[in-house]
Formats: sequence, C-alpha cells, structure tokens
Amino acid sequence: AVAVGRRARSRRAWGRAVAVLKELEEGCATPTSRLRQVVDAMAVEMHAGLASDGGSKLKMLLTFVDALPDGNETGTYYALDLGATTFRVLKVQLGGKRSMILRHQFEQHPIPADLMTGTSEDLFDFLAMTLRNFVERENDGFQQSDKRKELGLTFSFPVRQLSVSSGILIKWTKGFAIEDAVGKDVAQCLQEALTKSGLDMRVAALVNDTVGTLALGHYHDEDTVVAVIIGTGTNACYIERVDAIIKCQGLLTNSGGMVINMEWGNFWSSHLPRTPYDFALDDESLNRNDQGFEKMISGMYLGDIVRRVLLRIALESDVFGDSAQSLSKPFILRTPLMAAIHEDDSPNLKEVGRILEENLQMPNISLKARRLVVRVCDVITQRAARLAAAGIVGILKKIGRDGSGGVASGRAIGKVRRTVVAIEGGIYANYSTFREYLKEALVEILGEEIVRNVILRAYEDGSGIGAALLAASHSSEW
Ligand code: GLC
Repeated sequence: AVAVGRRARSRRAWGRAVAVLKELEEGCATPTSRLRQVVDAMAVEMHAGLASDGGSKLKMLLTFVDALPDGNETGTYYALDLGATTFRVLKVQLGGKRSMILRHQFEQHPIPADLMTGTSEDLFDFLAMTLRNFVERENDGFQQSDKRKELGLTFSFPVRQLSVSSGILIKWTKGFAIEDAVGKDVAQCLQEALTKSGLDMRVAALVNDTVGTLALGHYHDEDTVVAVIIGTGTNACYIERVDAIIKCQGLLTNSGGMVINMEWGNFWSSHLPRTPYDFALDDESLNRNDQGFEKMISGMYLGDIVRRVLLRIALESDVFGDSAQSLSKPFILRTPLMAAIHEDDSPNLKEVGRILEENLQMPNISLKARRLVVRVCDVITQRAARLAAAGIVGILKKIGRDGSGGVASGRAIGKVRRTVVAIEGGIYANYSTFREYLKEALVEILGEEIVRNVILRAYEDGSGIGAALLAASHSSEW
C-alpha cells in the first residue's frame, strides 16, 4: 500500500511538472504569424524612432559613421573593446587594398566585478593601464613609429554620439551601474585616463559593438548593410538613408547614408510572447522596464529564465527530489551551462546529470527529469532565436530588402538584392541550436526564394577590429 501511494503521488507530481512545461510552451509560442507581427512592429518602431527622439522605445541612435572602411586604410591602429563581462585590447596593422589586414593581435581580460558598479574614473584608469601594458608588451614585430597612436573605442552601451569620436552615455545595460558615468562623454573619459597613464594615443573613433562588426563585415563584403550582436546583450545597426532620418533634418553626408545604432535590446511590442518568468526577471533586474527584447534573447538572461522555470517545477512537484535549493539563487544557471545541457548528446543525458550535480547541487536527477530540463532549455532558446530572426527581417523590411516590394526598394515584389548581415556574439557563435532555430525562422518568414539572397556571416572579434578600422578611416591623417 505504501508503494502504491508513492507511485500515485509521483504521478501527481509529474502531472504538475508537465502542466508547468505545457503552460511554458504555450506562453512562449512563436508561430510564423506571430513572428510576422513582430517583424511589422519592428519596422514600425524603427520609423517612429527615426521620426523623433523618444518617439519609440527604439532609440535609433545616430553614429556619425557615414562611410565604412573600404580597404584603402594603411598603418597600425589600436582598439579597446568594452563589451560586458570581458574587454579586449587589440592592435591591427592594415596594408591597404592589396593586403588588407596584415596582422592583428589581441588580449582578453575579465572585468573585475567591483569595477562594474564603481566609479567611472576607476573603470577608465583600469582600461588605460591595461592598454598601456599591452602596448609595451606587444610592440615587437610591428613597424614602429613615433607618431601619435590612434585608437578606436568600442563601447557597447547606448551612447548619444556628438561626433564619430565623442558621445554621451545615456544609460548602462547588461549589469553595469556606474552612476557617475551616465551623462559623460565616454571618449573623453578614456582620453583623460590615457593621458594620465602616459600613453600618447588619441581616441579617433567611438563606436558601438554593432557598428564595429558592420565595419569589419563591410570591409570584407560590400553587400553587408546590417550587423547584429547576440551575446551577453543583443543589438543591431544598419545603414540608413539620411533623408529617412527625419529627426535630424538637414543632415548631410557625402555618402547620403549613415549607420544607425538601433539599440534593439530595448524594443518592445505587445506581440512579444511574454511569460510570468519574464515579468519576474524584469522586476528583479537592475534596469526594470528596459531592454525587454534583450531580456528574452541574450546570454545574460536565457539561463536565468530557465532557472526560474525549473524553480517553479521544483516548488510545485517533487520531480527534482528535495535537492533544488540552489535554483533559488539568481544567475546560478549561466547561459553557457544551459547550452551544454541543451546540446548534451551523451548516452542517457549523462552530461546533464553531471552539470545538475556539480553546478546546481542537484544530484541523482532521474532521466525523465533530465529530459524535462532539456526541454525547458529548448523552449526558451527557440523563442529567443526566432524573435531575433523576426528582428532581422524587421530591419530588412524597413530597408526594402525583405522581398515585399515596398517604396524603399523600388524593386519588383519577390526580388531582393544580395544582402549580407554580419553577426557576432557568444550566443550566436557557440550555441549551434540557437543558430539553427534562427535560420529556420528566417526561411519561414522570408520564404526559400528570398532567403537565398540574405546571407548571415559570422564574425569573431569584429567589434574590436572594426573599431580599429574606423579609427583608421577617421584618423587625423585621412
Ligand atoms: C546592449 C547594449 C548595446 C550593445 C548590446 C550588445 O544591448 O545596450 O549597446 O550593442 O548590448 O553588446
């Protein structure tokens, strides 16, 4: 009788766990029809953000980048790439049209956690010192000169640019919270720190990581007109016609275009499939009511959404036994671990068992429960990847490259010019299921015919190298 009672209880427990999963699947559903609504909403918000400042949650920031590097640049340039959890220092040697990028060297460093919430002076002094050490160490083998060195700063946060080499931090995202930096010119902050550290270097370009990636993409392939980052955060930029930038009338550029940093992480639409887990995550975040799209897509958050679902399952059922306390710890399930769980192809999900035991202190989880965990990861990643795909098509639609005809394209319906989208970021680069879901959704929305002309090209380190390229094309010598 005891065994029968236990079995009945366990069936009830499973019933509740399965109900939680089912509710999650429904809440996260992204049928093609819904993705199309997201596409349209993205294009509409882009228009609104270009019409006036504050016209949309999409900031659609001017970058003052009106020409992208074309391969003629020569010389040695540096870049400092401040992303999220790490930053990079780089040195790039450019050989002009025939030899392009001759060489590039870089170093990657973690950002000490206390600097992410300290003072701007501490942060920039730290960056400048690391750069100085790099410059001193890495000089061997490069052609030396006594000229003042030029640097591109990749600063992957929303910045109101004043020129191509200066701009004011609007707000922090991705877990940074250095209050005194908001409202300051970040290029000037770095310039002061560089001077203090004794480095004779000029900040020649201040760029978002999306813009750096677009610059490198365009350098290698002129059909690259959009760049997307899917890493700790997510964002996109693209080349817009200046006459479409209504909020800045009278803007003139030689090329007639300008790169726009969309800050799409902050995109919002009622069509986005939002669950109670998303609401709770937002409520407890450092930037409540902001970065809604980013919180459903990027690496900083995916693992934590999964953690919240698993916690609910643990609270409502006993499928994880009583060893799930660690699930109440925010951010304990980081996205790389989530990807490893999701993509485990070992027999009987052995690897999932190991991760749950070693990283989440959940030993002896049954195979059935391990399968459930994998399924939760799948639902969350699929939603993220499909929404990112819809975002990309939204941009293509805005610039008339989604095959729907449209005023901007001036082309017949069903035809689209070869269009390259440069993509970078840890999630896209390292999470192959994410990539597959994204591509699958692109085909679904655009159709086989159109999608053939939309090429996704992945870059590594584009954000940093691209900033060096932009420093070169905007250097004082050109
Ligand atoms: C965040 C930042 C944005 C950046 C993106 C990817 O969304 O606000 O500027 O491009 O992360 O790093």
